[in-house]
Amino acid sequence: MAIEAWFMQESDDDQRLPHHKNPPEYVSLDQLADLGVLYWNLDPKKYENDPELNKIRQSRGYSYTDLLDLCPEKVDNYEQKLKNFYTEHIHADEEIRYCVEGSGYFDVRGKDDRWIRISIKAGDLIVLPAGIYHRFTLDTNNCIKLMRLFVGEPVWTPFNRPQEGHPARKEYVKTVTEKFGLPVKAH
Ligand code: LAC
Ligand code: NI
Repeated sequence: MAIEAWFMQESDDDQRLPHHKNPPEYVSLDQLADLGVLYWNLDPKKYENDPELNKIRQSRGYSYTDLLDLCPEKVDNYEQKLKNFYTEHIHADEEIRYCVEGSGYFDVRGKDDRWIRISIKAGDLIVLPAGIYHRFTLDTNNCIKLMRLFVGEPVWTPFNRPQEGHPARKEYVKTVTEKFGLPVKAH
């Protein structure tokens, strides 16, 4: 099963709800690829020693991994952490997450600056390119176990929007515009 993604209905309702448009407007893997978002489906039961995962790690240089349990009883400052994750930001590097248990939503900005909600479940590995505006939230299951991957020593620093002067943002806008002719909003 591939991941599901859709354009979001903007509303002030609980961020953990799906926020579909009426009728729903789905986004394909090809559309996500046009934004530089990569996706693999793996067997989450094998996450500790998975040849498929190892192949991806090798080909992309993902030398670092750790595990992040985001469930209310397992983290300090749970509410504050969630709030930070849901604040729109970029990173100087890729954000690579492999969901090994539970589920959640990564939201990315698509064409015309519209929010796309990407639903992540156990077995989904997703790569958000450096410089893409995004945010994360749990869904109503309220629990996710994520493997974080990185090339070399990890840097998780978020840069909150607006970041049009950030080199990673400039590079991202340039790549997406040149490669796919997709103007993502430049402010
Ligand atoms: C993040 C968490 C969810 O960095 O991994 O947004
Ligand atoms: Ni992030």
